[in-house]
Amino acid sequence: MTAMAEPSRFLPPLSPRDFRRIGGFVSEVSGIKLPPAKRAMVEGRLRRRVRGLGFADFSAYCRFVFDDGGLEQEAVHIIDAVTTNKTEFFREPDHFRVLTGLALPHLAPPGRVRPVKLWSAACSNGAEPYTLAMVLAEYAGSHPGFDFAIAATDLCTEVLRTAALGIYPEAEIEPVPPALRRRYLLRSRDRSRGKVRIAPELRAKVRFLRLNLMDQTYGVKGPFDVIFCRNVLIYFDKPTQAAVVARLCDHLAPGGFLFLGHSETVAGFGMKLRPVAPTVFVKE
Ligand SMILES: C[S@@+](CC[C@H](N)C(=O)[O-])C[C@H]1O[C@@H](n2cnc3c(N)ncnc32)[C@H](O)[C@@H]1O
Repeated sequence: MTAMAEPSRFLPPLSPRDFRRIGGFVSEVSGIKLPPAKRAMVEGRLRRRVRGLGFADFSAYCRFVFDDGGLEQEAVHIIDAVTTNKTEFFREPDHFRVLTGLALPHLAPPGRVRPVKLWSAACSNGAEPYTLAMVLAEYAGSHPGFDFAIAATDLCTEVLRTAALGIYPEAEIEPVPPALRRRYLLRSRDRSRGKVRIAPELRAKVRFLRLNLMDQTYGVKGPFDVIFCRNVLIYFDKPTQAAVVARLCDHLAPGGFLFLGHSETVAGFGMKLRPVAPTVFVKE
């Protein structure tokens, strides 16, 4: 490592060669493709890390990472920097209507004793699994005996920290209907902080862990009745998408429901998944 540099120092731009090295590593580990147009994004997101470690430029950082044994230390930071974690509560709201209107009556007929098991794969900062938890808690209120458990996973460690805390700026909970806000969100005593926290009984329903969808085996215990894997396949090429969907299918119970993002599909993958609503599939 070089001597500490001023955190605000000017850094020369990330060269195409160094960008290719970073992109090759990211693609191999996470499946995320970084086309040349993403060079400025990667440069912007890694700049603070490179400066903070005191490197004079990206080339020195890349030499440290790829030639001098720094990869083990830096892998998490590079992956955290390049993942796009855009999410929101009640994103693509039709899916939650399909869940309660179509999937749950089928999966949890009266008399089912086992909890319905859900997996939010690529859960980002927790907005998706906590939305599921609110929707399911409401469902439980009107369906005595209904119970559920949610596993929520992501590759990015930074978002998982936020998710586990369950604390969000008030602006982010705007899409949550007022009645659910009152039931499931706690305001900080000091209103000026402008934060809310997910209620503990809801947090207890969601278990977060780090999981890379590129791994050949997944460290979650299925089979799941419902898997949400939304807005992550778009970052992968087609063969990777097909391989990930095949592994997700292995973790889905027969008759289980798979929810993808609205611009994602399983068409052409030759899998036993029957479409039942836009980007919602049932395992045959
Ligand atoms: C755009 S967010 C989508 C979040 C949420 N599912 C939604 O639709 O709002 C994509 C998430 O996928 C995660 N991700 C990217 N590559 C991944 C991988 N190989 N394994 C697991 N998660 C990954 C990112 O860290 C990011 O949080």
